[in-house]
Amino acid sequence: MSEQDTELETHLNEQEVFEPPQSFVDQANVSDPSIYEAFEENWPACWENAAGMLDWFEGYNQVLDESNPPFYEWFTGGKLNASYNCLDRHLDDRGDDVAIEWIGELGETRRYTYLDLHKEVNEFAAALRGLGVEEDDVVTLYMPMVPELPIAMLACARIGAPHSVVFAGFSADALATRMNSADSEYLVTCDGYYRRGEIIEHKEKTDEGVSGVDQNVTSIVVDRLGDEYDHSVQERDHDYDALIRNHTGAEVDPVARGSEDMLFLMYTSGTTGEPKGVQHSTGGYLSWAAWTSHAVLDIKPEDTYWCSADIGWITGHSYIVYGPLALGTTSVMYEGTPDYPEKDRLWEIVDTYDVNQLYTAPTAIRAFMKWGEQYPNEHDLSSLRLLGTVGEPINPRAWKWYYKHIGDESCPVVDTWWQTETGGMMVTTLPGVRDMKPGSAGPPLPGVDAQVVDESGEEVQSQGAGYLTVQQPWPGMLQTLYNNDERYIEEYWAEYSDDQDKWVYFPEDGAKIDNDDYLTVLGRVDDVVNVSGHRLGTMEIESAVVGVEGVAEAAVVGGHHEVKGEAVYTYVITEDGQTDNEALRERIITAVEDAIGPIARPEQVIFTPELPKTRSGKIMRRLLEDIANGDELGDTSTLRNPEVVNDIKVNASDD
Ligand code: WT7
Repeated sequence: MSEQDTELETHLNEQEVFEPPQSFVDQANVSDPSIYEAFEENWPACWENAAGMLDWFEGYNQVLDESNPPFYEWFTGGKLNASYNCLDRHLDDRGDDVAIEWIGELGETRRYTYLDLHKEVNEFAAALRGLGVEEDDVVTLYMPMVPELPIAMLACARIGAPHSVVFAGFSADALATRMNSADSEYLVTCDGYYRRGEIIEHKEKTDEGVSGVDQNVTSIVVDRLGDEYDHSVQERDHDYDALIRNHTGAEVDPVARGSEDMLFLMYTSGTTGEPKGVQHSTGGYLSWAAWTSHAVLDIKPEDTYWCSADIGWITGHSYIVYGPLALGTTSVMYEGTPDYPEKDRLWEIVDTYDVNQLYTAPTAIRAFMKWGEQYPNEHDLSSLRLLGTVGEPINPRAWKWYYKHIGDESCPVVDTWWQTETGGMMVTTLPGVRDMKPGSAGPPLPGVDAQVVDESGEEVQSQGAGYLTVQQPWPGMLQTLYNNDERYIEEYWAEYSDDQDKWVYFPEDGAKIDNDDYLTVLGRVDDVVNVSGHRLGTMEIESAVVGVEGVAEAAVVGGHHEVKGEAVYTYVITEDGQTDNEALRERIITAVEDAIGPIARPEQVIFTPELPKTRSGKIMRRLLEDIANGDELGDTSTLRNPEVVNDIKVNASDD
């Protein structure tokens, strides 16, 4: 490193506030600082700005109906169609512009213009109808990152059938649980896909999952691997390509959906073992995805924008598919991993396609840092105008590395806090307006009333830590948990809504408030671990572990991990009291992979004679986290069995 570089590095390391570059501000979609005040003064009418990003078949007559909280309704009386907004309305002006730029892991590419995408979505919508799918039927999409996934989503939206995308990395059991919970009779799946050059079979896993589904299933299979792979075929299966051929040129009128009609379900992990079916609306959700894509990601139709998430998670729904396509931009979709064939894969793509915005996750940035700056340095990244991150807190060191080595100190970085339930971004800087502070997500977006409160729900003043809450509804919010209004209230609104006059949303995150309105999100305060930005319920993992023969009791916690952020630590009491059993360890790991998927694979399985418990018999998870992290142990005075922590520590370090 040259002397000048060292100086710059030191300067960068000390700097805590970064101004957005003037060149960015000059062209930003939102650059007027008065937006915060204007939205506050004009709340909730300010959200007409979001609804105004869309085309409505019938105008709404009320922005927000608060008559039955916390079941808030947005843009009531309005009618629209998400597929129309993402496709049809762009055809006249930019039908020949690229909508989806797909890049396969092995280097093959597929390019869909808006016209191409419109055509195939119509054909597939007709095919779904032909197979019997009706408005409001839930269609499950269990697919990897192939173009047919967004096509299927938009085809469902076109006919008013809510989709429920299940991440392809999830297990057969996870698929069955979600299909049963949603009463879903239709499934779109895939024969397989590539990971680091290897074939990952998917169809067999699908079949295994479907065998656990209570209702009869009709399925459609996308052929990703071609002649390379002969997948199993069941009576219920239809071939995607054959269906498209049979419906060539078909046109399906986009169904006029009520603003509050469901657009999709997305299952996510919570405190209990059962995944939660987060239900999103059409009008509010799509307005939110479009408006935040415009205001925060600064997307313009002529941009080439890339979000490197998987569509199997909410990030991909809102910021690969719905937001970017509603704005008529080019959305890049990459099938594979960032280190295949080489560790410069992302930078090669940015360089080749002249990507303007890159939205990725802190876990990826930490991996890039570890691999070294030589990989980005091999490429011309000067097309980049904005960088974003999402999924977990980003430490200032990783933030600055991203800012310098990817953004060349000339791109604003937006650290966006949000959740599956919020539908889109909630807390982040507006890149053309506010300064950036590495490590802090930023102020709440204009019109979003996020506050940090203490245990009793009182607002925490400057520089205090507490719990993040949202004190007013917002258009992208979940409508409810599917078929479970009670759990919706219990999970999100019970904690801080003391009386019926004031409903407060609790996202189950801890947060700190700076000396201004900037928020630093500290992480989950419930039994959820965040592995590489993926949300996993410790209770779901525990129930898989205790199901293994030979296991008497188990506790699962998250421990720090250099790249993944958190990793899964499993503490196990065996039935025969043994604390060293390699075969059992293997069976436990397999059971977790079978129940959830390889992402939940335990980092460590620690056998222990006992678990630390309070006098009332509750497992003290905090202590287990301390042990996993090798930290100083917290208060052990309330333990019924204080001596146990030493035993566990010995077993953990043996591992
Ligand atoms: C949880 C939500 C939002 C899409 C991806 C994850 C954590 C998310 C940030 C951030 C700190 C963050 C929170 C949140 N989280 N973004 N910028 N800073 N923490 O969606 O699976 O619903 O998980 O991810 O803990 O509650 P999700």
